Amino acid sequence: MALIFTVDDDPGVGGLIKVLFEDRGHEVLVFENGKQCLDRLDENPSVVFLDMVMPVMDGMETLKTIKNAKSDLPVIMVTGVDDAGSAVEAMKLGAFDYIVKPFDEPRLFSVLDKAIEQTALIGQVRYLQVELNRAKGIGGIVGTSPALTATLEKILKVGVSNAGVLLLGESGTGKDLMARAIHENSHFSQGLFVDINCGAIPENLQESELFGHTKGSFTGATETRKGKLELADGGTLFLDEVAEMSLNTQVKLLRYLQEKSFERVGGTKKIFTKTRVIAATNKDLDEMVKKGSFREDLYYRLAVFPITIPPLRERKDDISSLAIHFVTLYKKEFDKEISSITPEAMNVLENYFWPGNVRELGNVIYQAMIMTGTNFIDIDSLPVNVKNKNTQKTSEAVVSQYASSKGDFVEPFDTSVRQVLQRALDLTNGDIPKTAKRLKLSRSSFYRMVQKYDLTKPFSKN
Ligand SMILES: Nc1ncnc2c1ncn2[C@@H]1O[C@H](COP(=O)(O)OP(=O)(O)O)[C@@H](O)[C@H]1O
Ligand SMILES: [Mg+2]
Repeated sequence: MALIFTVDDDPGVGGLIKVLFEDRGHEVLVFENGKQCLDRLDENPSVVFLDMVMPVMDGMETLKTIKNAKSDLPVIMVTGVDDAGSAVEAMKLGAFDYIVKPFDEPRLFSVLDKAIEQTALIGQVRYLQVELNRAKGIGGIVGTSPALTATLEKILKVGVSNAGVLLLGESGTGKDLMARAIHENSHFSQGLFVDINCGAIPENLQESELFGHTKGSFTGATETRKGKLELADGGTLFLDEVAEMSLNTQVKLLRYLQEKSFERVGGTKKIFTKTRVIAATNKDLDEMVKKGSFREDLYYRLAVFPITIPPLRERKDDISSLAIHFVTLYKKEFDKEISSITPEAMNVLENYFWPGNVRELGNVIYQAMIMTGTNFIDIDSLPVNVKNKNTQKTSEAVVSQYASSKGDFVEPFDTSVRQVLQRALDLTNGDIPKTAKRLKLSRSSFYRMVQKYDLTKPFSKN
């Protein structure tokens, strides 16, 4: 199914095209002039049928504007018998083909099929380009938007300096990935990249995780252990969720950054290391400093070189390459051959708000790959919340829409996936290999889903 635009000042022509193509399962939008069509171009049609002679904005002018905005979009000129000459002119300007009125139906369909095929081929080429960029790009970072490119330039520059780096950005924007990229492109790349998630370690254990401890220094310290700072000697220490670091640990870290030496918990010996420190947070550290929950002096030490990674919604240009990247990444897990995303589904992805950023996009693609019954991702396979939020300007609007329409209550996506998977498992009496095969999933990925969605085998006790 494709989205087709037809532009003709004669409603009879547009109507005929609409009927013929809708019969074949396509969606057709009819416009009376070039301007109307251009206003809706960001809905990503697969093909445009464009009348040559129209008031307001004629075919030729419309064609030029379309080709400027979307050079890959196939435009088919619709001409009267007597202006075949200008059709040739249009082909020179990048029109895909032309057809002459009154239509010869088989010709109309074959032109359409060819155009759709070309769109698919261009999709394939794009996909290969993304693959190629990924192979030669830094640290597997995908995307070519101006905002991301500017961030990557900073990363390469800061990589070769020895400065401390503070990565700022919403959750899922790629802070982890960027930290690794800085490490790979730095003088510290021969050493280890050691990360510590301050949010995941209880405050009383943070110091010993970071600086190590001596035997008997506290209950449970049965032997002397090196801390992560020492493990990262000559390499990079990545302090993730640094805003969650306890004030005590902050004091000790600051001293290390000033003196390049520290003592293990319970120890007295000074240990010197050459460790590059990169910190990351999704919190407003500035605000925390004002409130006194983060030390100002440490903040300035860490943030010698702050880099803000923009949220995905502010670099929409990256969405399609990232989506394709995730399809390739996850494809190995499935027995079905999924290799494309329909332009309509891509359009939905490009217009979603992505509160969970790239991580959420990865999850959505993964779920769509489970849900799709075909070998491409179409709108139907996308989670309801992604589809719904598309038509809304803000997430608040979506919430209130849900609240006011109890009658159309839609299950959260995870719940519906779980139901589908559980039902499939029940049908085989809990035979995991068999269910995986029926779902066209590899056994290992289905195992993971059993755990993730907490599926139960029928008749089993737990
Ligand atoms: N530009 C990118 N290219 C490819 N993968 C990305 C990109 N940005 C993020 N990811 C992926 O998205 C997920 C979340 O990124 P992560 O670095 O963990 O985000 P954060 O640390 O900011 O929460 C990871 O699986 C990561 O590999
Ligand atoms: Mg992270």
